[in-house]
Amino acid sequence: MTGLRHLLSAADLDRPTAVTVLDTAAQMAATQSREIKKLPTLRGRTVVNLFFEDSTRTRISFEAAAKRLSADVINFSAKGSSVSKGESLKDTALTLQAMGADAVVIRHHASGAPHRLAHAGWVDAAVVNAGDGTHQHPTQALLDAFTLRRHLAGDADNADGVGRDLTGRHVAIVGDVLHSRVARSNVQLLTTLGARVTLVAPPTLVPVGVEAWPCAVSYDLDGVIADQQPDAVMMLRVQRERMGGADGGGSRTTSFFPSPLEYTRTFGLDARRLRMLPDHAIVMHPGPMNRGLEISADAADSERAVIVEQVANGVAVRMAVLYLLLAGEREAWS
Ligand code: NCD
Repeated sequence: MTGLRHLLSAADLDRPTAVTVLDTAAQMAATQSREIKKLPTLRGRTVVNLFFEDSTRTRISFEAAAKRLSADVINFSAKGSSVSKGESLKDTALTLQAMGADAVVIRHHASGAPHRLAHAGWVDAAVVNAGDGTHQHPTQALLDAFTLRRHLAGDADNADGVGRDLTGRHVAIVGDVLHSRVARSNVQLLTTLGARVTLVAPPTLVPVGVEAWPCAVSYDLDGVIADQQPDAVMMLRVQRERMGGADGGGSRTTSFFPSPLEYTRTFGLDARRLRMLPDHAIVMHPGPMNRGLEISADAADSERAVIVEQVANGVAVRMAVLYLLLAGEREAWS
């Protein structure tokens, strides 16, 4: 077991713990090619999906993961609540506690909300962060690491991915880093696993304080691809909904870059840039994609793209996380 009580941040995962989750996910993935995909492991346990922010693949992925482990699943879509944030989270948490939730998977627009839910004493449940504001999205980083491990680690005789690591591999994470919890979580987890990360973005989309992150930063996508030949390119969605400023107006991309066309030319992945990558390099995107903005259709649909596989791997990784948090000797954990 891992000693994990909650999964709130990629920083919760030291290397042995991350490897345990990824190895467990490989075992879970192996069960998913069987005719009967359902395991009895979490029978009688209740997993609540508490989503305060829009989501398709992450919510469905957690739901599929919990159901394949035979847990009962309650989907709670809290979007649209007019109660103030703190109160509404507390009241919702007390309701979930009264219902006997064993795990709460939370996505929230406020950075830190999962941490508050885990540590305010409102619920006994294990809390899994499914994305909080621009802060963290640890299961996305785990599924990305799982996908990278399957494609990039050298051991051909170890085809299920068990035991592989990412030492020395180079991942370029490209685009709207400023608003991306995916980028934050990936920088942490990939470096924990021994990979090297380069963030590539226009200066306006690089977060303040990035110097303290364990990665390189570049403003030149062509230079990074041509000179550094990364093993993987992870494209980030331009998060228009977070570009509205304090008044929440939305969609003001032009305060961050001159025009969508200019962004695509400078930071978009297209067929020309694909050809510059080394043969083994893979193309990733967490979804949802803005086709034609950060990634062209031919890049998204190319043989190098593992974007659909990332979604499939997400179920196995979330099964592993729920299993490690909920099964076994909870009382022995801190
Ligand atoms: C990401 C998210 O929600 O942070 N998507 C996801 O979880 N599949 C990235 C994004 O929204 O761009």
